[in-house]
Amino acid sequence: MVEDLMAETKDHFREHFNKYTRKAFQMLPKLEKPRILDIGCGSGVPTIELAKLSDGEIIGIDINQSLLDELNRKTEEEGFSSRVKTVKCSLFEIDFPDESFDIIWAEGSIWIIGFEKALKEWNRLLKPNGFLVVHDEIKTVSNKLKKIPSCGYKLVDYFSLPEDVWWTEYYKPLEIRIEELRVKHENNSEALKTLKKYQNEVDMVKRNPKEYSSAFFVMQKS
Ligand SMILES: C[S@@+](CC[C@H](N)C(=O)[O-])C[C@H]1O[C@@H](n2cnc3c(N)ncnc32)[C@H](O)[C@@H]1O
Repeated sequence: MVEDLMAETKDHFREHFNKYTRKAFQMLPKLEKPRILDIGCGSGVPTIELAKLSDGEIIGIDINQSLLDELNRKTEEEGFSSRVKTVKCSLFEIDFPDESFDIIWAEGSIWIIGFEKALKEWNRLLKPNGFLVVHDEIKTVSNKLKKIPSCGYKLVDYFSLPEDVWWTEYYKPLEIRIEELRVKHENNSEALKTLKKYQNEVDMVKRNPKEYSSAFFVMQKS
């Protein structure tokens, strides 16, 4: 099915960004078997990377069960089933006890709840001196940096990704794949409809690639 092929393709190009997940992780001190909560983990490209980078236990939460199923499949395939678990839950209703995690990781999901609200609500979930790592859009970065201390964290470090990297390393190759599939399925109206949906997303970024730049924020509970 075209939808499955596109999901697979998106994950494949999403993996181009694992180098930034690694860079952010390397900004943390060495932690023994950390408990990590990956919020809005989706199909788990960063989650699997975290399993490779650490010897810890990782819980991925998301509201989309089919994405979690895909993460469970990859977890099994990579041999991480004993350390990577998934829980279907909304990031508006996270129900773990206080001080459950050494690290909270959130790539591409904090915008759903808002930067400031997330920092405040997630603080209780971290153990003392625990870390929060966020990958978010670059817009209003200076406002975000200002909010960090009043939300109960200190900034360890932050870095922005190259300006149009989402275009060059994700959406541009995605567009090429969409075109290949469009030619292959030219007589399949359902497939073309699906591909149009993905092309619309590509077009949005293509119009102004620099607007879609993003940054990592590495914070420590203070
Ligand atoms: C842009 S994706 C990021 C996925 C993954 N973290 C990554 O970086 O590849 C955002 C994810 O947030 C999830 N999401 C959306 N609303 C949510 C909610 N209310 N609670 C939990 N997850 C949510 C979506 O299902 C999706 O998997």
